[in-house]
Amino acid sequence: MQAVIDYLKRNQSRFVEELCEYVRFPSVSAQPQHRQDLHACAEWVVNHCKGIGLEARLCPTQGHPIVVAKTPRSPSPPLEERVGERRPLTSSHGLPVANGHDRPHFVIYGHYDVQPPEPFELWNSPPFSPRIDGGRLFARGACDNKGQNLAHLKAIEAYLKTGTVLPCDITFVIEGEEEVGSNSLATFLKENRHELKCEAIVISDTGMPTPKHPALTYALRGIAAFEITLHGPNRDLHSGIFGGTVDNPAMALCQLIGKLRDKNGRVAIPGFYDEVRPLSAFERREMTRLPFKAGEYQKFLGVPKLFGERGFTPVEQRCARPTLEINGLTSGYQGDGSKTIVPAWARAKITTRLVPNQHPATIIKLVTQYLKRICPPTVRMEIQAGHGAEPYLVSPTSLQAQAALRAIKAAFECEPVLMREGGSIPIVNEFKRILKADALLIGLALPDDNAHSPNEKFDLDCFAKGQLMSAHLWQELTRA
Ligand code: BES
Ligand code: MN
Repeated sequence: MQAVIDYLKRNQSRFVEELCEYVRFPSVSAQPQHRQDLHACAEWVVNHCKGIGLEARLCPTQGHPIVVAKTPRSPSPPLEERVGERRPLTSSHGLPVANGHDRPHFVIYGHYDVQPPEPFELWNSPPFSPRIDGGRLFARGACDNKGQNLAHLKAIEAYLKTGTVLPCDITFVIEGEEEVGSNSLATFLKENRHELKCEAIVISDTGMPTPKHPALTYALRGIAAFEITLHGPNRDLHSGIFGGTVDNPAMALCQLIGKLRDKNGRVAIPGFYDEVRPLSAFERREMTRLPFKAGEYQKFLGVPKLFGERGFTPVEQRCARPTLEINGLTSGYQGDGSKTIVPAWARAKITTRLVPNQHPATIIKLVTQYLKRICPPTVRMEIQAGHGAEPYLVSPTSLQAQAALRAIKAAFECEPVLMREGGSIPIVNEFKRILKADALLIGLALPDDNAHSPNEKFDLDCFAKGQLMSAHLWQELTRA
């Protein structure tokens, strides 16, 4: 194990250069013009995996390709890292090594696709030209998720290149559609369920409160997306000539969506909370132990005052309570100056974040029923359901969770925290359903890493510690 740790230390600056190469690909899965860039990025990952000694392949899908990379299934002779130094084929704790059969198997999941970088003008340097400043690497995808999955690759590289025997088999699954709903991955998992059968899925695609509070995440929120379009007159109308005789779709939409949440921050859709599992006293107490200062948080976000569901703390509101958010609102004239019209239509893009035991299909049904009931007869409403994902919750006290906590502690030299996250990783439920394996969510992103925002960054210390954590993880997970 010491050889692995030394190798990681020794090669840190090369790893950072490699991360720079990785983030140069504008692998924006939402934008069709980047299709080739996603392919090129996936190929880069395949080649990188081959270079570190993995058996890697690019798997085409209906959408963007999936990269699969496996550690050699029977331990190969150690590669010479330094001349004349040959290590025996034993694991660090001296146990004899199984020869590739009946060994524990873990899947590491990550994604090489990124969110759109727009608006460009808010970036201090171009999103796909990495810049290092103060021990942080700025680029789209730096933390979400290229830096995090590269950290695992580097840990495995350290094992392979030092001839240190891994106590388990590992398969990387790195996809290119996470930011657009992972449409191809479920099919892929079904088709490859035998090859991917494993003890657990390890995912570093969440966050930690501070570098002194590395975290194991045991719950994620689910999501249900939909769009409401209100149609009014058959064309944009002169608001002086016709205004006052027809309803205004933009106004009607505002009034309609104004009824989706009340002044106490509660979602006002009848039945919305029916399936919400109340937070236990234990969880509420645990959440108060997370570092959180409302004043600093408010300043950090630049809002005049925080707002959230009454009766819950901001930590609870963010991680463990369901919400409804307008993500986009469009109608009428958006250009310079003014244009006096009654717009022909108005549209809102909305997502709800869900917690155990809510289900996206039920929520969409409730939303649709309610909207249909309250929609005025003066406009025509169209509701389109979008992507959805179930919330995720796993035991934070399982043997695997305890092993993960030990690995985190060894790497970060701090007591890890247990937390729920407000974001969603839709595929974790598919992993559970198809592969019957739980996810170990060990995030390396910091709250100010600007995931999905301009000036995304990754802390290079988190990058290095993440590699160490991964190196320890395989030892800890196989110790039991
Ligand atoms: N890495 C995030 C998810 C995340 C971030 C989980 C922070 C927990 C904490 C992921 O890439 C993401 O952004 N997912 C989307 C999923 C959606 C498009 C279905 C999300 O949560 O909005
Ligand atoms: Mn992500």
